[in-house]
Amino acid sequence: MNKRQICRGVHWLGAIDWNRRLFDSLIPLPDGTSYNAYLIQGSEKVALIDTVDPAKLELLKEQLADVEKIDYAVAQHAEQDHSGALPWLLQSYPQCKVLCSSKAKDLLLDHLEINPQRIVVVTDGESLSLGDKTLQFHYTPWVHWPETLVTHLIEDRILFTCDFFGSHWATDNLYAGNDPRVCEAAKRYFAEIMLPFRKTIQANLKKVRSLSFDYIAPSHGPVFDQPECILSSYEIWASECLANKVLIPYISMHGSTEIMVNHLVSGLSRSGISVLPFELTTTDIGKLAIELVDATTIIIGTPTVNLGPHPQVSYAVSLANILRPKLKFAAIIGSYGWGSKVVDQISGMIPNLTVEVLGAVLCKGVPRETTFAELDGLIELIRQRHADLFSE
Ligand code: FEO
Repeated sequence: MNKRQICRGVHWLGAIDWNRRLFDSLIPLPDGTSYNAYLIQGSEKVALIDTVDPAKLELLKEQLADVEKIDYAVAQHAEQDHSGALPWLLQSYPQCKVLCSSKAKDLLLDHLEINPQRIVVVTDGESLSLGDKTLQFHYTPWVHWPETLVTHLIEDRILFTCDFFGSHWATDNLYAGNDPRVCEAAKRYFAEIMLPFRKTIQANLKKVRSLSFDYIAPSHGPVFDQPECILSSYEIWASECLANKVLIPYISMHGSTEIMVNHLVSGLSRSGISVLPFELTTTDIGKLAIELVDATTIIIGTPTVNLGPHPQVSYAVSLANILRPKLKFAAIIGSYGWGSKVVDQISGMIPNLTVEVLGAVLCKGVPRETTFAELDGLIELIRQRHADLFSE
């Protein structure tokens, strides 16, 4: 992909990673991703905002082949998918200085081979003139590491935001327009990257709202040329708003746990509650993460494997724990062969979830009448708790 003009003196550079299917060796990417960099050529100075993942360095080299000077490399975030090409950039442009937040300086030195003399710390609110263009830096910590900042190109009314408002979506569209697929990809991104830091993100959103811009240019996914949609979506996702929704991530080895899940799905649906089962051997764990953004209740369904939960259930529970969703209620269900400690073990895996545990329904072997009666009791308890939250 060649560099593309956004406006006079401002170009998109970077790489569209169509084939990447896993991020941080953790997050599924069904639609690939991109690493965006932005070249700002003022009348006197030139700045490059972010770089690319080192795996795509050759593309950046080609795009910069005719760029004779870069005075500043703005490192909005130290994670390597954006900073990884800095060592090459500094070698290729000997006059170039890296501009970053105070916390980013340490992180860049930890993660990359960079001469500390080449790094200049910018303060929150500081402005930098490129001649006829002005960059202003605003600290926005925890999107997604503690050092992150955004850059406001004042004259052209563009806000560069790195991970903030990013989406893992490989597309040759430079702009998001009003394509609903971007919102879905951005919500997946928010769930996996931003959800644990939503309190800080609420503060950052207020800060961003105080700036005047027409475009949001993140470093993953397309540029938002109608930014109100992503701004208001973030305000909802980062808020404490909940949906009248129950999630049931589960595994069933011999069918008994699945029978219990199906009973819950029918009963909760009849109660007017939205219920989403996720069979964990086939589900895209990113879809579970998306639903965790506003789910009220989680019911963990697991068979017992040598007294403990199935390992894939443990993985999903650990993921939910590190994402720190807004969940209010939890329960555990499942079947076992001869003995089980799944309730104790799962309870010990969710210290970050401030949930009321509504109970556990375990059955030895196949579920029978008593099991279904216990499940009906759990359905009624969930119905009451949700009614307290959602009825006006
Ligand atoms: Fe896209 Fe936190 O890096």
